[in-house]
Amino acid sequence: MPLKLRPIGHVRTSASHEALRHGSAVSKIVIDPMFAKGLEGLEDFSHVYVLFWLHDVPEWSNRLKVHPRGRVDIEKVGVFATRSPHRPNPIGLTLVKLLSRRGRTLSVKGLDAYDGTPVLDIKPHDRRDRTPRPRVPRWWKELSRESKHACRATRVQIGRRTHAAGRYASKTL
Ligand SMILES: C[S@@+](CC[C@H](N)C(=O)[O-])C[C@H]1O[C@@H](n2cnc3c(N)ncnc32)[C@H](O)[C@@H]1O
Repeated sequence: MPLKLRPIGHVRTSASHEALRHGSAVSKIVIDPMFAKGLEGLEDFSHVYVLFWLHDVPEWSNRLKVHPRGRVDIEKVGVFATRSPHRPNPIGLTLVKLLSRRGRTLSVKGLDAYDGTPVLDIKPHDRRDRTPRPRVPRWWKELSRESKHACRATRVQIGRRTHAAGRYASKTL
C-alpha cells in the first residue's frame, strides 16, 4: 500500500510562542468539511491526541544526532530519543485537553502547534497510553525541572501584570 497522508484540518491560534511551549495555549482545530462526520462522539472525551505535520521546519538536514532542545550543554542523542521537530518525518504528537466541539471546530488546550499547521489525525486518549513511572534519561529530568520553573516564572510575571493592571483600574474608577 502506498504511503499517503493528507491533512484532515488545520490549527488556528493566535497564542504566543511561550504559551505554545508551556502548554497553556488555547487553539482551535478546524476540520475540513469532508471529514466533519468523523468527529461525532469526540466531545465525550476530555483529552485527545493530535498528530500534526510540522510544516514550517526547514528541510531535514540528515542529522541523526541532536542536542536535546538545541542545548549545546547537553550531549547529543539520537533524534528518535528526542521530541525535536527536526526529524526525517516532521510529525508532532501532543496530548491536549478538549474544551469543546462546535460543529467541525474543536477548541483545545495545550497544543504546541503554530497557526496553519496541518492536522493529520485525532485520537481519543486511552488508559493504555499511560504508564505510571516511565524511565527517562537524566537530561530529560533536568529539562523538565527547568521548564516547570520557567512556567512558574511566566505565571508569576503574568500575575504581577494582572495585579498591576487591577491597581491601575481601581485608581481610575
Ligand atoms: C518540539 S515540537 C514537539 C511537538 C509535539 N509535542 C511532539 O512532541 O511531537 C513543538 C515545537 O515546534 C514548533 N512548531 C509548532 N508548530 C510548528 C510547525 N507547524 N512547523 C514548525 N515548527 C512548529 C514550536 O516551537 C513548538 O513549540
